[in-house]
Amino acid sequence: MNIDWKNLPFGYFKTDYNVRCYYKNGKWGKIEVSSSEYFSIHIAATALHYGQEAFEGLKAFRGIDGKIRIFRWDENAKRMNRSADGVLMQPIPSELFKEAMLTVIKLNEKYIPPFGTGASLYLRPLLIGSGPEVGVKPAKEYMFMIFVGPVGPYFKEGFNPVTIQIVRDFDRAAPLGTGTIKVGGNYAASLKASERAHDEGFASVLFLDAKEKIFIDECGPANFFAIKGNKYITPKSNSILPSITNMSLIDLAKDMGMEVERRQIAVDELAEFDEVGACGTAAVITPIKKILDRDSTKVFEFCKDGKAGPLSTKLYKRLQGIQYGEVEDKFGWNLIL
Ligand code: PLP
Ligand code: COI
Repeated sequence: MNIDWKNLPFGYFKTDYNVRCYYKNGKWGKIEVSSSEYFSIHIAATALHYGQEAFEGLKAFRGIDGKIRIFRWDENAKRMNRSADGVLMQPIPSELFKEAMLTVIKLNEKYIPPFGTGASLYLRPLLIGSGPEVGVKPAKEYMFMIFVGPVGPYFKEGFNPVTIQIVRDFDRAAPLGTGTIKVGGNYAASLKASERAHDEGFASVLFLDAKEKIFIDECGPANFFAIKGNKYITPKSNSILPSITNMSLIDLAKDMGMEVERRQIAVDELAEFDEVGACGTAAVITPIKKILDRDSTKVFEFCKDGKAGPLSTKLYKRLQGIQYGEVEDKFGWNLIL
């Protein structure tokens, strides 16, 4: 095994095993270990036709002490069940989620990037409607699986500031739609805007509220946050995913003596912020140096010296410090193996 841990992209990486579990005849079966990257699926599975599916993303880290730390897995398990409920799938008992997760991590332990490389093991739980239906209705059978792979930063810039584009001609999710849960359809809906942004030279898209196009919603596959003086400000919206990273940053910001506001943020306010960034499991904290409004061509600039701002940096160091076991985990977020 010859892996260039320090230069891993955020992408698919073949490992040795994945785990699967099937819901049939009203109950979940036993966890099965597989070394195949494929599974066969019914041609009329609801996941394929009607998007009855949900996924999660969480990370395991090799700490400074050599131990494995899984960050807030219970929050991902809960959110997966909220997603399941949102598209009428069978929930996954927390113990089943945990056992599947521990099994797949242990079997692929050699793929957990060494401490000091900045990389981590990304876990991708997936729940799909696997039973056949042709009418639009929930399946009677489900499949839950987790695969894993070592990853580097989501944006190739890592902790270096990125450039983002505000768009109004696409919505990721509707106010009463599925934006608050992690279902594949939201990501399908974001693809055109996001690929166009890449083609136009941006790292990601800043979606606005679908109804009025006044307020900041979500930053591609990550939440948005801003810092103004000693305040941490993040959008309140009924079409964004409740980010576990954002929730953690809110606790850390409070703990660092910052004030926290979760409220609607108008695009125009961007001019008043000292620092802005995107946050998520994959993105961790990605500082933003420039936001271009694709319609008005207005430009908002941050990080004038080319580097992340001081409070974003402090939050980033504290969060990663906890994840890698370098800083006290005073909130008890890590499951340590
Ligand atoms: N928003 C979207 C649309 C996402 O896909 C993600 C990633 O999971 C996030 C926000 C960040 O959430 P979390 O911090 O729980 O990974
Ligand atoms: C994550 O941050 O874990 C995500 O799921 C983002 C993306 C790769 C969909």
